[in-house]
Amino acid sequence: MNRKYIIANLFTMKKKFFPRVLMHWHYTQNKRQMPWKGEKDPYKVWLSEVILQQTRVEQGWAYFEKFVVKYPGIQSLAAAKDEEVFKLWEGLGYYSRCKNLLATAREIVYDYDGAFPRNYENILALKGIGTYTAAAISSFCFGLPYPVIDGNVLRVLARVFNIDIPIDSNGAAKIFGALAAELIDKKDPGAYNQAIMDFGATVCKPALPLCAACPMQQNCGAYKAGKVNLLPVKEKTLVRKTRWLSYFIFEHNNSTLIHKRIAKDIWQNLFEFYLVETPDNPKWDKEQVHEWLENSLGIANNPRIQIFPAEAQQLTHQQVKGYFIKVALEKIPEPLAAAEFQWLTAEQVKQLAFPRFINHNLPKNALQPELFNC
Ligand code: ADE
Repeated sequence: MNRKYIIANLFTMKKKFFPRVLMHWHYTQNKRQMPWKGEKDPYKVWLSEVILQQTRVEQGWAYFEKFVVKYPGIQSLAAAKDEEVFKLWEGLGYYSRCKNLLATAREIVYDYDGAFPRNYENILALKGIGTYTAAAISSFCFGLPYPVIDGNVLRVLARVFNIDIPIDSNGAAKIFGALAAELIDKKDPGAYNQAIMDFGATVCKPALPLCAACPMQQNCGAYKAGKVNLLPVKEKTLVRKTRWLSYFIFEHNNSTLIHKRIAKDIWQNLFEFYLVETPDNPKWDKEQVHEWLENSLGIANNPRIQIFPAEAQQLTHQQVKGYFIKVALEKIPEPLAAAEFQWLTAEQVKQLAFPRFINHNLPKNALQPELFNC
């Protein structure tokens, strides 16, 4: 059997496996609670989605509850005074969303007798409703098989299926859209869509995913390839002013884990240690490091660690800050044995070119085991 054929086969198997595992996780482990969860009333689902376009779940929760208390149905919203609705929206910003909400509520009440459209195309045709919201309403309320696709979903699919096509590239929508449409559970598309949203938000998280306890682990392409932190790929990386890089110096039997930076980003083609990039200062302490090691790599024996805050470095357009964390491993866990990484002796490491941020900050003797004794 040739390689291409094997890969295609694995992909097909994974497509069967993914919805099954996701739904099982949803029914047995998904503890996420939100007031709109399980809601079948299209008005309330629509309202929750519009609010969630504007803000995070934690903050959106209170707005949703305020809205449904004051306007329990689409008729009461349509009949409300603009100023009164804007007042309730206050703090969410971007008032054109709120204006669209009102205009659409009035259109449905006055032009369609208050009956929310029941098929995807007609829902999508409403002002202010895009493909994500149309898919959410169609699946949650009417059981129609339209997959929601947003950053969360793209991240989950890119990782599980090990897809390195940039999620913001021209062809991506078609490729991920076709995959998502194949994967959706046709018997319960609403539960599937809620499950994948919740899975992305609570397990397959952007910065510090919970891979060790993840039910997809043994079928996750990114986990197996050691690429969880490298996927999804983005073409236009958000230019952050400050980047927080935490470098884990994994040491085992006098060798150290090294990774080559090949992505189109700062320091392309230079070498580095195991990188965890976070949007904010992770403020690591020993307990958090142990927790992260266990959650993401399944290292549960609280290995010896040392944490070194790094000195900030100013690059042309961004500042780099972070930490170096030395970890003495008793054995190499599966994700660190992936082809993406090399395990090299201190002598071999010395031959490689590293970014200045690493050279400058690397604690003396960081590649020597005796560091732990000092
Ligand atoms: N983000 C957007 N819609 C959502 C939903 N229904 N549940 C959780 N997160 C969401």
